[in-house]
Order: sequence, then C-alpha cells, then structure tokens
Amino acid sequence: GGHIFLPYFCVCFSNPCATTGRVQRGAVSVVEGEVGWLSCPLFSHPLSTTTHLHPEHRHPPQSVAAGRRRKCGLPVAVAPIEDLIPLQEGKTLDCPDLQDATKMSESTPKVQWYFARHLVCGWYPFWNSDREQKGNSLQVHLMMEQYQGLYYCRVQYQRRNQTLNFTRSINVTAILPLSLPKEPSIMNPTNDQIFTVKTGTEVRLVCRGQLPFVLDKPWREIWWTVDGKTLDKLPDRFKQINRCEHSHHFRDLTIESILVIQDFQSQDMKREFYCSVKNERGFDTRRAQLEEEVSLPTVELGCGLGVTLLLMLILFVVYHAFWLELLLLYRSWFGTDERHTDDKEFDVYISYARNSEEEQFVLLTLRRVLENELGYSVCIFDRDSLPGGTITDETLSFVARSRRLLVVVSPGYASQGSQALLELKAGIDTMALAGHLRVILVQYKPVRRKGWVRELRRARVALALVRWQGDKSRELSSRFWKRLRVELPVRRVSSRGEDEEESKEVALMRLHSQNSTNSQTGSSATPSKTTMKVLNSAA
Ligand SMILES: *[C@@H]1O[C@H](CO)[C@@H](O)[C@H](O)[C@H]1NC(C)=O
Repeated sequence: GGHIFLPYFCVCFSNPCATTGRVQRGAVSVVEGEVGWLSCPLFSHPLSTTTHLHPEHRHPPQSVAAGRRRKCGLPVAVAPIEDLIPLQEGKTLDCPDLQDATKMSESTPKVQWYFARHLVCGWYPFWNSDREQKGNSLQVHLMMEQYQGLYYCRVQYQRRNQTLNFTRSINVTAILPLSLPKEPSIMNPTNDQIFTVKTGTEVRLVCRGQLPFVLDKPWREIWWTVDGKTLDKLPDRFKQINRCEHSHHFRDLTIESILVIQDFQSQDMKREFYCSVKNERGFDTRRAQLEEEVSLPTVELGCGLGVTLLLMLILFVVYHAFWLELLLLYRSWFGTDERHTDDKEFDVYISYARNSEEEQFVLLTLRRVLENELGYSVCIFDRDSLPGGTITDETLSFVARSRRLLVVVSPGYASQGSQALLELKAGIDTMALAGHLRVILVQYKPVRRKGWVRELRRARVALALVRWQGDKSRELSSRFWKRLRVELPVRRVSSRGEDEEESKEVALMRLHSQNSTNSQTGSSATPSKTTMKVLNSAA
C-alpha cells in the first residue's frame, strides 16, 4: 500500500488556452493498486481533463511510506475531508469523489465503508445500528463521542472491462448539540472580582472567556479594551496574551486572555479595562475592577517607626527637662485659685527649728522670696502670732488658717518640747479636723529622715519634699523655686500684681483689727523668745 507521487505536464492545443498559456504543471498522489486522476486545470470539461491512471502505467515511482504511521487505517492518496456531526444528531456521509467515479464508470460503483479510531477499526457493518449504510452512503443516526474518527470509503467501478478502485476518507468530529446555547460568556473577571495592582510594577489582568463553536461560522474572538480603545491604538506598555485552555472540548473553546500592563501608573487606575468575547451568536463584556495595593514598603515603614520613636524620645526628654515648667504653665492656665474656694488667711505656714542654721535660711531667703518675689502670704509664728492666748491654741489656729505647712527639715527639728513639734502636731490635728492640709518638706541640708515623717505619712498628710541645692537654688528660676511653686497654691503670673496686693491688704486688715482688740488687753510683747522659753521650760 505505498503512495506514488506523480508530477505531470498538460499541454493545451485548442483556442481557450491562448490567453492563459499552453502548458500547465500538476502533480498527483496515488496509492499503489488504486486509480488516480490527473486534472488539467486549464480545462473545465471533466471528461476531457481527467485521465485515468492505472498503476501499471506508472513511471518510476516515488513511494511514500505514509501508511505505516497510522496504527489502524487504510492508505489514502488524498487528505481526509473534515466533517462535523453534532452529538445526539444524525448525518449522512457521502464518499468523496464518488461522483467522478460514477461519471466514468460503466456500471454503478460499489462502496465499502471502514472505520478507524485509534486502535479500533474494521469494515462495515459496525457493531451496532447507529451507523448504517444506505446505498453507497453511510448514515449516522445518532452521533456519539466514540463515533468520532476516520471513515474510509473504498469505491469499486468498471471501466473498459477493468475493475478500478480508490479509497477516500472523512475525518468526523463531534460537536455539541446545536440546540445548546452558543452565546459566548466571560467567566473571569467575575462581577465582584477585584484585581489588586501596584504602581510601578507589571500588572496582569486575566480574562477567561467561554467561546462555543458555531457550526459553519467558527469565527470567535476575545480581546481587551482600555478606555474603549483596542490595544493596537495604545502604547506598547499594554499587551495581550491569549492562550487556549481547552481546545478539544467538542470544539468549544475556553480562552484565557491576559492583559499585561508594564510599569503600571497611578493614572491607569482611572482607566476602564474591559474584556470582551464575541462569536456569531453573541457578545459579552466585563469590566475589570482595580484596587491599588496599600503599599507599606519596609523601608518607609521603618522610617515612619524611626521618626515616631525619635519624636517620642524627644517628647520624653523635653518632658523630663521641663516638666516643672510645663506643670507651672498648665497650672497657670487651668489651676484654680484656692483663695476663691477657701477662707484661709495664709498661703504658707513655715515651721522650722529655732536657733538653727536653718533659721537664717527661713528668715532671710525663704520668707523674702515667698512674700516679695512670689507674692504669697506667709505666716511665721514669731512674727505673726499674737500675744495672749495659749501658745498651743494659737499655733493650732495659725496652722489651721494656712493652706500649706512648710516644714524646714533640720537635724533638731521636732525635738521634744520645741515650737516646731507643736507646729507639727498642729498640722496633724488640722489634718485630722479639716481633712485637708498639704505639707511641704524643705530640706536645707541633707538630714536623716526622722520618725515624725513617718507619723505624717501615717496621718495621711500629703507630703512633698523639695531640696535646697546650695547656691544653685538662689536664682528664682532654679529648680528649687519652681518645685516649690508647684507645691504652693496657684498664683497666676499675669494677674499677679493686683490680686496679690488685694489679698495681702485683706490679710493685713484682719491682723490689724485683731491687733487692736488684743492690744486693748494690754499685752504687746513680741512672742517669739518668750514663747520659746515657756515651751523649753515646760519640756
Ligand atoms: C481529525 O480531526 C481532529 C479534530 O479536528 C484532528 O485532531 C485530527 O488530527 C484529524 N485527523 C486526521 C487524520 O486528520
């Protein structure tokens, strides 16, 4: 069953050839033992143009061993004819070139059918009646998937007392029933699908379209548009890559079309990306929704974090360096002036050990600054106490009429029977009676904490310790005074002048009136030294 390939010339001797040329070249492929036709293209009349070629007449053959490649088929001189049969439907297969044979045959040609699919093959009749030979045609009543394959027809006819034969083939493929919908559709992007894109990178938008096969009009397409324009009208940054996913599913195609956008730019976010599919039966289109990726690159994140930490560090440092100033500023803005809310007379009662190193400090520095520079009303027993009455009662009353008890701590403070001890007791009593007294401990020189501090603590007295730091604390802007001001009642810097004068005057007036009533009793001695002596002797 070898193939013979015959080149030939045909020469024209009659008029119609004058214009087109007299000699034409042709070639024919014949299977050994079969009949073939030489068709001279110049002539249209079949009888005159067709010459029978019997293998006996052949010239030195160019045999082609093509038959061996097919596992179970027949050698055929010409390529198979393609035919499509919808599944579940029927069709009649006619043998190709049978018409020509019929014209040349002196009897009715006979046709034999043969089927080959992979390794399954055989002559008609086939194993069931779905495919039936009617006359020379083969009728497929009900197309099935397994009936796909090559159908061979061998034609036998008589001519000039010779039995001639040839074989032709039909490649039958199943397609989906015609009754099924053939409209194309887009599977991706789905309606709620969002593509996350990142500017500056290559973005790939994947569109998957289902494109059914339409009989006789197999044309179909899938494409992207950007802002209504096809990609050939857009810059080279936009490219489309198409690839078939399922190409042999009864000829229906699922095609993937990828829109590749190189170097995606932020203005591309505003563009409209549409994927469309189309075939003879319909059209579908869908917009690709984009969402910009919230990019927090590690470098920027690190920078942000670093800056935040640095800011926090700066704030921390600033707070630690200036917390006193900040506190004072805050108080000057939002602090309430205690003079408006209580009926006390003095801002500070200074308690200290008499005849000590601290006495100098109290009388020369502390009192002066508090009264003259900071505008507080200060009560010191020696100076402000009034003669007459018991000292204990007086001490108690003065402490009770002060907003703060300022205790200057010294080694001998609160020693047995001292005025300072009395004042301290008065403070604790006031605390117990009125419930509110702040005690400020001022440490002039480093001393060991004494038992009375513990006692104050036990009495739940609000305690604050401010340390004098020698010459460093002389300036009014030093830490010592700021710290002290924080512990003392609020005095607004701006409105200080008038208010202070007023309150001082009020205090003085009260003192004077008391003085005058007391002086009528006759006693007018300054209390300090006498008081001390009385107390000392009592101890
Ligand atoms: C028959 O058709 C099918 C589908 O179109 C194709 O894959 C196959 O190669 C064809 N066979 C021959 C022998 O042409």
